[in-house]
Amino acid sequence: MKVLFLNGPNLNLLGQREPEIYGSTTLADIESIVKRRGADQGIDVEFRQSNSEGELVDIIQSAKGRADVIVFNPAGYTHTSVALRDCIAATGVPTIEIHISNVHAREGFRRHSLLAPVCRGQISGFGVGSYLLGLEAANIVNATK
Ligand code: DQA
Repeated sequence: MKVLFLNGPNLNLLGQREPEIYGSTTLADIESIVKRRGADQGIDVEFRQSNSEGELVDIIQSAKGRADVIVFNPAGYTHTSVALRDCIAATGVPTIEIHISNVHAREGFRRHSLLAPVCRGQISGFGVGSYLLGLEAANIVNATK
């Protein structure tokens, strides 16, 4: 199984960015933790990050036929992006939405995800653990494809 972990805007700043909300672990640290866990389970894990909505659309389109599951932290685009929603629906690669923080316990605008209806499910609020839970969810989704 191949799992693409896709990360949206400002997640390249993890570790320095609002550490009281997002913790002190960098995206590179998360990548090595998840890749190690994936390797233990024989899962091929790829990590990508982009600050650009269009580039995220291109990456999702090119994942079709290349990745079995996408685990996606769309960051700020969660709450705004019709283009990413349409892209997930159009390409049909099973996608799991994840968030480091509990988006339902924060500002009102974060409670609404434009992407959730086209994702298999949502994981929110477990810090770096949201990425590991995303890997578990990818296993379940792949087994029931
Ligand atoms: C986030 C939550 C979003 O609301 C926010 O815009 C982010 C990060 C999270 O991982 O908790 O950039 O996706």
